[in-house]
Amino acid sequence: MASISATILCMIFFFSIITSTFSASVVEDLANLQPPPDFNSTITTNCLRNPSLRYCNSSPAALNEIFKSTIVASHLCNESKNPNCVESFPKIDLGSRPKITPLYLSFTFFWKFCPLTILSIDLSNNSIKGSFPVDVLHCTQIQALDLSHNGLSGDVPIHSFSPLTNLTRLNLSYNHFSESKISETEFFKRFDASSFLHSGLLPDRNKFTIRAVFLLVCFPISVIVMVGCFGWLCFRRPDLLPRAFGRQNKFTPPMLKAATGGFSRKNLVGKSEGVDIYRGVLRDGSEARIEIYWDDDISRESRQRFVEECKVLAQLRHKNIVRVLGWCNGRRLRAIVTEWMEAKNVEIWLLGSSPPWKHRLKILMGVVEGVCYLQEEWPQVGYDLRTASLMLSDDLEPLISRFKVADQSSSTRKIYKFGVFLLELIVNRMSSDELESGEQGFIDHIRVHYPGNIRKLIDEKMKVTENSIDRVRQIIGIGLMCTDQSSNHQLHLGQICDMIIRAYESWDVLESPTHKRSHGDRGKGHKDIQS
Ligand SMILES: *[C@@H]1O[C@H](CO)[C@@H](O)[C@H](O)[C@H]1NC(C)=O
Ligand SMILES: *[C@@H]1O[C@H](CO)[C@@H](O)[C@H](O)[C@H]1NC(C)=O
Ligand SMILES: *[C@@H]1O[C@H](CO)[C@@H](O)[C@H](O)[C@H]1NC(C)=O
Ligand SMILES: *[C@@H]1O[C@H](CO)[C@@H](O)[C@H](O)[C@H]1NC(C)=O
Ligand SMILES: *[C@@H]1O[C@H](CO)[C@@H](O)[C@H](O)[C@H]1NC(C)=O
Repeated sequence: MASISATILCMIFFFSIITSTFSASVVEDLANLQPPPDFNSTITTNCLRNPSLRYCNSSPAALNEIFKSTIVASHLCNESKNPNCVESFPKIDLGSRPKITPLYLSFTFFWKFCPLTILSIDLSNNSIKGSFPVDVLHCTQIQALDLSHNGLSGDVPIHSFSPLTNLTRLNLSYNHFSESKISETEFFKRFDASSFLHSGLLPDRNKFTIRAVFLLVCFPISVIVMVGCFGWLCFRRPDLLPRAFGRQNKFTPPMLKAATGGFSRKNLVGKSEGVDIYRGVLRDGSEARIEIYWDDDISRESRQRFVEECKVLAQLRHKNIVRVLGWCNGRRLRAIVTEWMEAKNVEIWLLGSSPPWKHRLKILMGVVEGVCYLQEEWPQVGYDLRTASLMLSDDLEPLISRFKVADQSSSTRKIYKFGVFLLELIVNRMSSDELESGEQGFIDHIRVHYPGNIRKLIDEKMKVTENSIDRVRQIIGIGLMCTDQSSNHQLHLGQICDMIIRAYESWDVLESPTHKRSHGDRGKGHKDIQS
């Protein structure tokens, strides 16, 4: 009570001065009024009565500032419509007074000596910009502070609040402060969220909700969608994925559908029971031959066997072996995808064009190379050497194109088949007139004329020179040896291949002694064929 009465006394003293010049503005008063001569002693007296007054510990040099702060106080008291100015001066009400509020906030000396009677400060709705008005916090005794609806930004000086132990109402709503740990600070726990609405201090509930919605709904959905897309691509169109993801050799029904233009008729190049052969274009632009087996009910085991076989076939690499690009093991269809070649089969070639000896020899050597490769590298892979199954490219390169993995047929059987192929290639079957009697009849017919009457066996269109007739005889001899099942079990297919290759090389040397090539690095390649 003592402190308040002391302040009152002091205020009354100045109020009398100020009322006389009231029409003047606070700025004019501050410029014109001087402290009276006994001001020093008045203050000293006040401080003796109430040492808690804010100016009591200041230096004598601050006298002028103290005087000016009383001028500002008297103006503020009236502006704030306090009932008993200046005696008991409980509030600073500058709410919605944007014209004068910044001015009063700029009087640092006033806030420094903030009168103890003030319990409430309202500075709301004044478009105050910039950082938090820290000077206001010198009024540590206040119970209410409203800074809502301003443009304040930056950090709230959390630690400067701690002396304001009596502060029970605080409003910082509608500002642009930086988000801070206000809700975790002990001091601010007495205020609820309505003190900080849209202040920027607390995480925005809307933003939070949006984020929560995003995290809880959109994010999982987008992840699911992405995983779904990725899965769809992996399982249906791995060819659309970057190479690293796609499983090589593995084709899916949608990939085949895309490659064949939806299994369109115009891409269907061949058809037999249960098998459709398409010409397709793969995603990398290359053409492929797609052999499709439409089978619904096929056992799990045979499916697995099919895939295992395809895995082996896809590893075969030889110029005389059709390149298997991959396979498809779909629920409704299985398929083997091989490289596309403009090729006819050897049977048609033989019947159609009665090819000359040197072309036949080229085919023969190609097949021997292919067979040699398979024999050495992939002995478990069987192949079909019938002239009808053997393909022939435009540049007369034969291609073994039908295979059987885990071939159970004996070595004897393989050699027999190889022999039949040799004979079929060289001896024109048509000319034999023995079509009805089948393979054995064909072989018997050859035996009748071998070795004396070779010319009777071969087509004259083969243009065999006297030089070459011995070679033809040699090959037919090997063919007959292979087809003689009573004796061929002593042979090995590799040996037979070697035999043919050696014979061929010796002819080669004989033919071109002047153009003799190095045989060492030629290996088993026989591109240049001389008759
Ligand atoms: C004010 O009074 C005190 C003693 O009461 C004295 O020490 C000080 O010098 C005086 N200051 C002025 C500016 O007169
Ligand atoms: C107080 O301020 C009001 C304007 O808010 C003014 O009209 C009035 O004259 C002032 N009264 C005194 C006593 O200064
Ligand atoms: C803010 O002040 C303006 C006038 O300056 C007034 O129209 C408006 O209603 C006030 N808003 C609040 C929330 O007090
Ligand atoms: C808070 O109020 C009490 C009693 O009214 C008073 O004694 C104390 O000094 C006040 N605290 C401050 C920091 O002014
Ligand atoms: C702070 O001010 C806002 C806007 O004027 C108001 O909605 C809110 O209730 C106030 N909060 C408190 C604690 O008075």
